[in-house]
Amino acid sequence: MGLSSQRVALISGANRGIGAAVAKRLFEAGWTVSLGMRRPTLPDWAAADPARVHLFAYEATDPEAGTDWAADIAAQFGRVDALVANAGIMVPQTVVDIDDDDMARLLEVNVQAPRRLAAACWEALAASGRGRVMLLGSLSGKRVKSARSGAYSVSKFAAVGLAHALRHAGFDAGIRATAICPGFVATDMAMALTERDSTAMTQPQDLARVIEMLIELPNEASVAEFCVNCQLEESF
Ligand SMILES: NC(=O)c1ccc[n+]([C@@H]2O[C@H](COP(=O)([O-])OP(=O)(O)OC[C@H]3O[C@@H](n4cnc5c(N)ncnc54)[C@H](OP(=O)(O)O)[C@@H]3O)[C@@H](O)[C@H]2O)c1
Repeated sequence: MGLSSQRVALISGANRGIGAAVAKRLFEAGWTVSLGMRRPTLPDWAAADPARVHLFAYEATDPEAGTDWAADIAAQFGRVDALVANAGIMVPQTVVDIDDDDMARLLEVNVQAPRRLAAACWEALAASGRGRVMLLGSLSGKRVKSARSGAYSVSKFAAVGLAHALRHAGFDAGIRATAICPGFVATDMAMALTERDSTAMTQPQDLARVIEMLIELPNEASVAEFCVNCQLEESF
């Protein structure tokens, strides 16, 4: 088993959007980053130090993906310090119109897959004494904004619940779990949903700054949820 002297972070859905921004940010801060992608491709920025970038073919709907990824990391680096469970999907349908297959897919990718990934990394996260799980929830996991976002909201409420459940399960072992709950972030996902200009949305790079900060906070500064919005709403 190899042992990395740098801290190791796993980031799912690291090929684009928020995941790509977080991966770049942590890499630039000196982390070894393991990038989970359906079609693994080395990002341009990895050229600065390719030894600190690991690629894994991650398909969230594969029930073995988490354990396979964790085993690969254990063999190559021997440690996991942070998991950024970011891969997610949006199906813009009401809970009345959505069919069983699409609802199951939403729950599979947005809830089951991050749960399996966290469980697979659990032992290594605990061994670090200050393991971190950053779970991409959403403001849609805090309030139901519209009928059309209803099915997605159900999955994201569950994702926020999952982050709380992980925080309870890992607290004594020094694992801190946070539900990251943004509104519109300028990525393909949000751009497909709204006409609003991308410059009026939260930028993925700013969310990456938030996530790095949360990861770096000491065990005694546990943050259960972090809400970020680009617009004024009643409570967020
Ligand atoms: N953008 C927003 O406004 C917003 C707001 C709140 C929360 N979020 C959450 O933030 C996270 C990232 O969103 P984003 O805006 O960056 O979305 P995005 O641009 O649509 O990217 C989604 C990422 O998830 C990956 N992914 C989707 N299904 C997957 C699967 N079955 N297996 C493996 N990877 C899969 C995608 O991979 P491929 O490239 O292979 O499809 C991609 O890397 C999601 O959990 C999302 O729900 C986003």
